[in-house]
Amino acid sequence: MKKTSIAALLLVISAVLAVYIGYQKFFPQAELPYDDDQEGLSDQIVFKFSHVVAENTPKGQAAAKFAELVDKKSNGTIQIVVFPNGSLYSDIEEISALKDEQVHLIAPSTSKLGMLSAEWGVLDLPFAFPNYEAIIKGVHGPIGEKLLQSLEKEGLKGLAHWPNGLKQITTNKGPVIEPEDLAGQNFRIMQSDIIQAQYGLLGAVAQQESFNSTFNLIEEGKVDGEENTISNIYSRKFYTVQKHLTITEHGYLGYAVMMNQDVWDRQSEETQQILLEAMEETTAWNDENAHKLNEEQLALIKENSSIQIHELSGPEKQRWIKKLNPLYEEYGEVIGKELMENLRELRESYSFED
Ligand code: LMR
Repeated sequence: MKKTSIAALLLVISAVLAVYIGYQKFFPQAELPYDDDQEGLSDQIVFKFSHVVAENTPKGQAAAKFAELVDKKSNGTIQIVVFPNGSLYSDIEEISALKDEQVHLIAPSTSKLGMLSAEWGVLDLPFAFPNYEAIIKGVHGPIGEKLLQSLEKEGLKGLAHWPNGLKQITTNKGPVIEPEDLAGQNFRIMQSDIIQAQYGLLGAVAQQESFNSTFNLIEEGKVDGEENTISNIYSRKFYTVQKHLTITEHGYLGYAVMMNQDVWDRQSEETQQILLEAMEETTAWNDENAHKLNEEQLALIKENSSIQIHELSGPEKQRWIKKLNPLYEEYGEVIGKELMENLRELRESYSFED
């Protein structure tokens, strides 16, 4: 750099400094005022919790409950800041955001974890759980525990399963009563090979798209329908753009709550203990609340819309089970013997109502 340019640069820096010092001297009120509410804030630990659903859903309410319990148990020194509705990350982005430590807690639907390891597919098998009670036994028993442990190899710390409930089918081409009724239809599904194969067996086309794009895809006629729990159908207003809802209860939808293992390891024992206790209480609370919310919101859909609702009868359900049964054979090996055996035992202890 030439001598003249260096001199000019120094002159500009001196002028800026002089203006700044003068400003501080003559306008001391420009400094941040003292605020005793802010005292101790530098000692606060803040965890960002991102999820994609609305606040009036099982996951939305469980995340809020968890934040409240952590706040109480830590006397306000640990804060969980919840970002609902995919406002921070979409379901497609959130796992890598967690791995990159951009966010500290997520609770993706377990169907989306098949992209990490194939075992998670066990929860996507059609009619894996005959009812909500079987779900609770499955995800809080050996099946759920093994799945959470499988996150370790991904550098993730599995904290809990938060069930939402059983999935139903909505479409504009109906009514859907027999499995054959889906032939030729186009569905939005979650990111899961087994769900994709399920629609293939039914002669339908399935598109793996983000949750937050689903309403528009239906409204713009880019898909005929989708599958989801009542709480997602209600809170995202899918029922307002769909003509038919079939209570199929054909699949599980629930969440694996997780943190980045390195972030977990950096926490003190006391913080870990608070998070674990709050998680345990929230999980027990969610088991009750999720079921209740799905029932209440089905009643609200019935009350507030003209959507045609069909509930599969026992014999109709048996025909769906039979039609989709080949997926157990097709995916058993990639899911693994032990998990398949655990699921077989669980299913045998229940029966599908006729
Ligand atoms: C979906 O993508 O349909 C669901 O997984 C959304 C959710 O998180 O419940």
